Amino acid sequence: MQLFIVTGANKGIGNQVLKDVALLTKEPTKILLTARDTARGETAVKNMMEEIKDKLPENVTIEFHQLDIQSKPSVDSFVAYLDKTYGKQCIDLLVNNAGYAVFGRPDPDGAIATTTINTNYFGTVYLTEALLEYMKPRSRIVFVSSGVAKYLNAAYEIQPAYFVKKYTSTEQMDKYLTDYIAAAQRGEIENGAPSPSYCVSKAALTTYVWLLSQRFKSDPRKILFLSCCPGWTKTDSAGDDAPLTLPEGAKTPVYLSTHSYDELYVNNGRYFHLCAMEDW
Ligand SMILES: NC(=O)c1ccc[n+]([C@@H]2O[C@H](COP(=O)([O-])OP(=O)(O)OC[C@H]3O[C@@H](n4cnc5c(N)ncnc54)[C@H](OP(=O)(O)O)[C@@H]3O)[C@@H](O)[C@H]2O)c1
Repeated sequence: MQLFIVTGANKGIGNQVLKDVALLTKEPTKILLTARDTARGETAVKNMMEEIKDKLPENVTIEFHQLDIQSKPSVDSFVAYLDKTYGKQCIDLLVNNAGYAVFGRPDPDGAIATTTINTNYFGTVYLTEALLEYMKPRSRIVFVSSGVAKYLNAAYEIQPAYFVKKYTSTEQMDKYLTDYIAAAQRGEIENGAPSPSYCVSKAALTTYVWLLSQRFKSDPRKILFLSCCPGWTKTDSAGDDAPLTLPEGAKTPVYLSTHSYDELYVNNGRYFHLCAMEDW
């Protein structure tokens, strides 16, 4: 049996990715729809089953599990559940989709920067590190990052291209981000659109994926680590002005989750946009 996990899958891009991947799957598969809020997660499973039950292959099941990536106890309890239920090396696909974004709102006390960086970077990294020993040979981890800084020509210092050149270890990046949060809490970070803390959190995430692929180069499981930008997609976070629909926004993460492993492995650690590898 295959085991797939999608974070922040109660709505938005994560929900769409889970649905599309479920419908494309041919093997017997359990898919864990995870969400930080139990009621929202259970409702999402119920609604999805009502919507796709006639099209879902019989051997594919979707289950809810609580998972708040910003809460270490929640992550630890999720990992303990996987360990007890499936044992080590049980995951075929992890989609790190859960994310937090606030655009264009003043952030005088650094609260937005704190939640943004703690969710998008530190929370995603904590979960990923905890799940690495649960990844099967030839499994994949897809990270829903963002290229917003690049596409809007934001300051180069908050773009993935700069981070990838500057940071050669996660320890260096962790320190920079911890200092960034402290500076934001002292009111020393400029506000504006796009949100600088969101750009910083995603530049760091994209860089983390590259560093992970380098760290695991000689791991015999040959795990695939890929990051992507879904494009500006209509969701609660991104707003109604976004040009892409949910199925359009889900395309790149779905491609990375389902396309030929061997073809993607050539670009292990890299960043994708519009279903193609792109420079940082
Ligand atoms: N939409 C875009 O244009 C766009 C562009 C580039 C990248 N992205 C990225 O795409 C991903 C999905 O965003 P979206 O646009 O689909 O936004 P969304 O509809 O607001 O969905 C965000 C999801 O993340 C969940 N989440 C937030 N904090 C969490 C936490 N601590 N633990 C677990 N789940 C958490 C939310 O749960 P709740 O419902 O409980 O809040 C929700 O399920 C994010 O990583 C985002 O940065 C989006």
